Amino acid sequence: MSFKFNEESQKLAKIALAKYPDDRKHSAVMPFLDIAQRQNDNWLSQDCIEFVATQLEMPFIKVWEVVTFYSMYNTQPVGKNFVQVCTTTPCWLRGSENVVRACKEIISENPKEVSSDNLFSWMEVECLGACVNAPMVQINDDFYEDLDYVSTKNLLISLIDNKPLQIGSQIGRQGSKGINNAE
Ligand code: FES
Repeated sequence: MSFKFNEESQKLAKIALAKYPDDRKHSAVMPFLDIAQRQNDNWLSQDCIEFVATQLEMPFIKVWEVVTFYSMYNTQPVGKNFVQVCTTTPCWLRGSENVVRACKEIISENPKEVSSDNLFSWMEVECLGACVNAPMVQINDDFYEDLDYVSTKNLLISLIDNKPLQIGSQIGRQGSKGINNAE
């Protein structure tokens, strides 16, 4: 097992563990996995999962069950910009296929394939809870909303140029106000 928490992760793990009684350390499994994933370029290798299991004195399979239940944990490498495209019904009705088309053109024809420069990977996901500003994507920790084909391409190009666009609505909508009140 080569993975270990670095100093910063150790601090975060200590804070997470302190939220639970001493005899309930298993309860910290989700924050521990999140800390491990963030340290490990946004994915959980077998080493990471074994490390978390050892730290929390849990059987590997129990931790693996958590990892594979929640889509927020990645079990294979992802790009530096990990693009999750919501294609659930509200986003689909508002044109998420155009967002997917832009990802295929700029990133890769196939989902979950890391681009050769390691800059991107993309995948389709279920509802991310921002349906009111559909269609939308999550890139790492940020939401970009009210997308179409052109704005998705502009967004991805802005990341290639290392000048990311403003997070949130791409049509200037404030919060989740109605579209007619976008100005
Ligand atoms: S359906 Fe896309 S965010 Fe809910």
